[in-house]
Order: sequence, then structure tokens, then C-alpha cells
Amino acid sequence: MTSSISNLNYKIREANDQDLDAIMELENACFGNDAWDADTMHFEVVAHHTYYLAAFEGPTDQGKLIGFAGLSKIPGNDQADIQTIAVSQAARGQGIGKALMLELLKEARRLHTQEIFLEVRADNPAAQKLYLALGFEHIDTRKRYYQPDDVDAWVMRLQFAKTSIGREPVVLGIETSCDETGVGIVRGNTLLANIISSSMDEHARFGGVVPEIAARAHLEALKPTLDQALAKANLSLKDIDAIAVTNGPGLGGALMVGIGAAKALSVAIEKPIYAVNHLVGHVGVDVLERGELQTPTVALLVSGGHTSLLLVRDLINDVELLGETIDDAAGEAFDKVARVLRLKYPGGPEIDTAAIGGDPKAIRFPRGLSLPKDMEKHRYDFSFSGLKTAVARWVEVAETKDEPINVADIAASFREAVADVLVTKAVNACLDHKVPRLLLGGGVVANKRLRELAQERCDAHGIELRIPALSLCTDNGAMIAALGAQLIMAGRAPSSLHFGSDSTLPVTMVQTL
Ligand code: KG4
Ligand code: ZN
Repeated sequence: MTSSISNLNYKIREANDQDLDAIMELENACFGNDAWDADTMHFEVVAHHTYYLAAFEGPTDQGKLIGFAGLSKIPGNDQADIQTIAVSQAARGQGIGKALMLELLKEARRLHTQEIFLEVRADNPAAQKLYLALGFEHIDTRKRYYQPDDVDAWVMRLQFAKTSIGREPVVLGIETSCDETGVGIVRGNTLLANIISSSMDEHARFGGVVPEIAARAHLEALKPTLDQALAKANLSLKDIDAIAVTNGPGLGGALMVGIGAAKALSVAIEKPIYAVNHLVGHVGVDVLERGELQTPTVALLVSGGHTSLLLVRDLINDVELLGETIDDAAGEAFDKVARVLRLKYPGGPEIDTAAIGGDPKAIRFPRGLSLPKDMEKHRYDFSFSGLKTAVARWVEVAETKDEPINVADIAASFREAVADVLVTKAVNACLDHKVPRLLLGGGVVANKRLRELAQERCDAHGIELRIPALSLCTDNGAMIAALGAQLIMAGRAPSSLHFGSDSTLPVTMVQTL
């Protein structure tokens, strides 16, 4: 298998015998007395039962070798070992060790490994912390293993298929972060039910989601939504292996309703609970259609509550926030502009309809945070409040002058501005990070022009565009269940019952323990 990942700082590819001299130099620098000799290293790097990676400084493999790592797995055996991992002193702190480990774990999973082992010095807490974060547990200590330093070795193990049940887990997911009460049920990566009850109509007269109304509506909708989901999946509560619930980001009160219900269920049926990140759920939903998430991928998540651009190297271990809106969310901009144009709530579909026959070039509305000066500090951030004000000003001026207002032209031009900024920044993120994939999520993905423009620009740059079915793009419980199942299948321990809601939960917190 040839795997390669790169960004501006380093490039990782499979190692070969051309790299041996540089590998030995780093081996000696890192391990001194304990270093392997050149023959052993040569044997391991080229052996059929091993998989070795090399990391280079800069965007290509022409740079200096700054790290390497190797995995060994005997065919037919379902266990594997991390044989070695080294990163040069000067290159530490850039996430290279983690990137190497993630690639090895990916390969181990591809080879159907069940358990993977490694040894780490007891006096190396930084490495231990990384391995623990990747799901390894400390299972044994070998006394004075490292000589002549007399240092103990920790033996660590990661179990890929550690589901106490020994089969794909049936997970029930609860989502209440905004105005959709979602209950979904999955078995592993298979969707069994996805029931959504929305309080959107109750917010219509306010022109936007009112948090208290949303929380109250969740309370009323939860039980019937849960019953419907179980009926759809043809299951009863005793068939559920685990509960997953969104604990953020979102509206605090609304989140608390789902969390309360999920904890009560978990206690009642005596099954583990997983508190998961809503935004990462939008990305993880892809496994329900494709069986796995192809990584690395950039994800653009656009809804009434969020506008975020993520770089996902690994769904459960490595999600990075590249940028987000600094004011209104994209959907919110649609809703507010719809109000200015005296259209109904939610504004997105209304504007899509109103834009039919309109000229998207009629008015050049501003593209937020896209000027050269903004592109330094806010390359991947968004801003829509200036755009909303520009539309309002345009209408106001026309009204003062008693000029006719061409709603179709305004709607088409506004929609063009939003789609243009979203797609430009998302494609930039793919190109900058050399990621050949873009995944879309969130309710705004329903927008016709956004879909069209994303497809056009992705095609032009050879980027694969993924748009899940709309019922999986908008907020739903199935994505939460799917992410919970991914965590379980990766051997993650459940959350305790002590977690609360976190309105501003960062994307790096995929699961709250
Ligand atoms: O993901 P979602 O259902 O959840 C919440 O944010 O609650 O997204 C709803 C948002 C609303 O702001 C709505 O105006 C927007 O998605 N939306 C659209 C379209 N359909 C829904 N925005 C633009 N174009 C659409 N066709
Ligand atoms: Zn969402």
C-alpha cells in the first residue's frame, strides 16, 4: 500500500531502502546505546511483514528526514506491534509523531488487526500521553527493561474491536443542540433509523431560533421521537448496546434536555453512554453512506447555528478547526436577509426559490473576510454580518428612492456572495493542505447554488466532493449514533455520567469523558 500525507511543514510516505542512511542517523541520535544496527534496520524496513514510514521536512520528500516509524504484523495473526517511532529533536512539537502513529494505526486497521501493542519508556510522559490519547491503555510494566539506564518499560495495548459484545454495536444517538430533536439508531456503520422532530415552525414568528422555545420543544418531542425511532428500527430498548448524545457545541438549555434523557436511558438500561461532538458528528455521518470516512478530508459545515471549516485527518483522533464564522452563521444570514426581503422563515429555501430567474451578477455584494489583508489573519474564517447589512442598505436606499425592488436579483446576488465565499475558502483549505476531498454538512447544504458552485470548483481542481443525503446533512440523531459507534469500534471507553453541556465545545474534543 502506498500512503502519503503532507502539509506545508512535513511530508510522510512509506520508507524504502534509499532512506536507510538517514534513518540510521536519526536512530543513533534518538536512541544512542539502544539503537538498532544498520543490518537490523534494513531487514525491518524492507521486510514483507512490516510497514515503515518516513517523515521529511517541508512539503516534499526532498527535505531532511525528521522522523520514521514502523509497524509489524505477521500475516494470519490478528495482533500487531509498533516496532519503533522516532522524531528528531528539532522537529518535535509539530504533531509529526501523532501523524506517524495515525498512519500506522490506519494501516493496522486495514490489515484487520484486533490488538496493537507498543513499549514506551516509563520516563517519557509526553509519548505516553500521546498513546493514551490514541486509545492505548497501560497493561503491564517491564522492570528495568531499558539498559543501561535502568528504566522501566510500559507495555501499552490498543484493542480495535473491543466491543464487549464482540459484534457491531447497536447505538442510539440523541441530538438536541438546536431546534431539531433527532433520535437515530445505527448498527456499526449501518443506518437503522433516523427520526427528526423540528420546532422550526414555533420559531417562525420570531425569525430565528429562540433557545427557550427550542429546549421546551425538545422536552415534548423526545419521548415520541425515541418511540418512533425504535419502531422504525424494529428494536426495543433492550437491543441497544450504547447511547450516544450531543454535549456541544449548541444551545446550552437545548443540549441539557438531550443529555438528561440520554443519561436517564443509560442508567435505566444499564448501557454505556458516549458524549460526542455535534460538529464531528456532521463529518462522521459519511460512514453511513460509504462504510468508512475517507481521510484526510476538509469538511465545510454550514447551518443556522454554525459555519466551520475543519481539517479531518482522522475522525476520532485528529480533527482540526481551520476557521469559523466570526459573527453570523451562514444559515442565519439567509434567515436575516429573508426577513429584509419580507420572505418567510427559514430563509434558505425561500431565498433559493426567490432567486429563480434572478441575475446573480446584478449586484456585487461584499464577500466577507476575502480582501488580501483579511486573508492573512482570517484565511479560513467567515463573516456574514456585513453582507446582511449591505442587502438591508440596498433595499432601504431603493425604497427611499421609490425604486422597484427586484427581489429575484437581490436574492440571486446575495446567494451568489454566500456560496462564493464558502466554496472559495473551502477549496483554498483543500489546496493549501493538499487534501483531495471536501465533505459538506449542515442545513445550508440544501442550497442549490452552493451545491452547483462547489461541484464546479471541485471538478476544476480535481477535488472529490461528498454531499451526504440531505436527511443526514441537517441536524439528526443518526450522525451522533454513527460517531458513537465509531468510538466504540475504536475501543474507546465510555463517558462517565459527570459530563455536562458545553455550548462552545471545541472540535478537538470529539468525545467528552
Ligand atoms: O442544519 P440545520 O437544519 O440546523 C440548524 O441550524 O438548526 O440548518 C438550518 C438552516 C437554516 O438557517 C436555513 O435557513 C438553512 O439551514 N437552509 C438553507 C436552505 N435550506 C435550509 N440555506 C440556504 N439555502 C437553502 N436551500
Ligand atoms: Zn449542525
